Amino acid sequence: MSAKSAVKRIGVLTGGGDCPGLNAVIRAVVKTGMIEYGFEAYGILDGYEGLVNNRMVKLENEDVSGILTLGGTILGTSNTAHPFEYVAEGGDAEDAQDLSDRCVENFRNAGLDVLFCIGGDGTLNIAHQLAQKGLPIIGVPKTIDNDLYGTDVTFGFDTAVQIVTEAVDRLHTTAMSHHRAMVVETMGRYAGWLALVGGIAGGGDVILIPEIPYTMESVCRVVGGRSKRGKRFSIVVISEGVRLPHGDYVVRQRVAESHDQIRLGGIGVWLANEIDALTSVESRAVVLGHIQRGGTPTAYDRVLATRFGREALVEAVEGNFDVMVGLQGTEVVPVPLAEVAGRQRLVDPDCEIVRAARSVGTSFGDD
Ligand code: F6P
Repeated sequence: MSAKSAVKRIGVLTGGGDCPGLNAVIRAVVKTGMIEYGFEAYGILDGYEGLVNNRMVKLENEDVSGILTLGGTILGTSNTAHPFEYVAEGGDAEDAQDLSDRCVENFRNAGLDVLFCIGGDGTLNIAHQLAQKGLPIIGVPKTIDNDLYGTDVTFGFDTAVQIVTEAVDRLHTTAMSHHRAMVVETMGRYAGWLALVGGIAGGGDVILIPEIPYTMESVCRVVGGRSKRGKRFSIVVISEGVRLPHGDYVVRQRVAESHDQIRLGGIGVWLANEIDALTSVESRAVVLGHIQRGGTPTAYDRVLATRFGREALVEAVEGNFDVMVGLQGTEVVPVPLAEVAGRQRLVDPDCEIVRAARSVGTSFGDD
């Protein structure tokens, strides 16, 4: 047990969309705390919803044992609960209240010494705001979108890439047999990482991502040209954050009580219809949606999540709060949450990975 640590009782919550590897982080934080330092651990239920409404459970070793391979989160999550702009069930943004003082009170009354907030940009922004109110906070970055600043990669991304890759592999058979263009829409919000990496791994012929402007002329030239050259099928991978030619996003849903109300989705169907109309190649769209967030994490994500969880605990023991742990090169390091908040890590259109794809003949719809 560490003599210098003031930490004895830890709290952990998962916020935002679920993501493969969340349970692996919970397990790593709690087990490291219990085994190496003899800490007590509490789980806050449903993200910040549980912190606002004081819903916490004590976590024992058996609660975190056997969850390494489990998708989702044993603690539950919420991507609408925002302590500083809290909207009660059934309300909308105009009814928002600042209940952050209540969160601080609940944290203190529970006798917690640190709060681990595992989540994406929304969760980490709130974590930083809570840290500024005096709460000892450590962030752990998760998202299948891989768009968080301060870490080279987030856990969950590798698993989602595997799912995209498998989908593209499977769609090849229908594309080839029916001489079709199969359009595969990935998640990723405003960043193209999932479409880019999954598209390369699956051997996509066209990859469209928000960071690289495309034209329909270019997409049709590639699809039509392949058909004329005897390759009578094409695989097009498109990110949900790609805009229509006149600049609008395709919005699947608006969530009134959510801080970021827009849910993207549907550009793939639009693109398939356009290819159908503008070329002689029949086209179909497949929207992968939440399947990309489900199931057991890959070996890479299990290990990254375990490293993140352990390092987060170490930072807490050292009293280094208001930081997130991030992978930089080969090391897991602390990164100030102030540096992360409000920033996105997008694909650099000239990066080496894009160049590699272009070198093997993949089109980004801009040639
Ligand atoms: O951030 C993860 C993510 O899956 C995005 O890729 C997607 O745009 C969004 O969440 C979907 O959110 P929801 O689960 O609220 O539909």
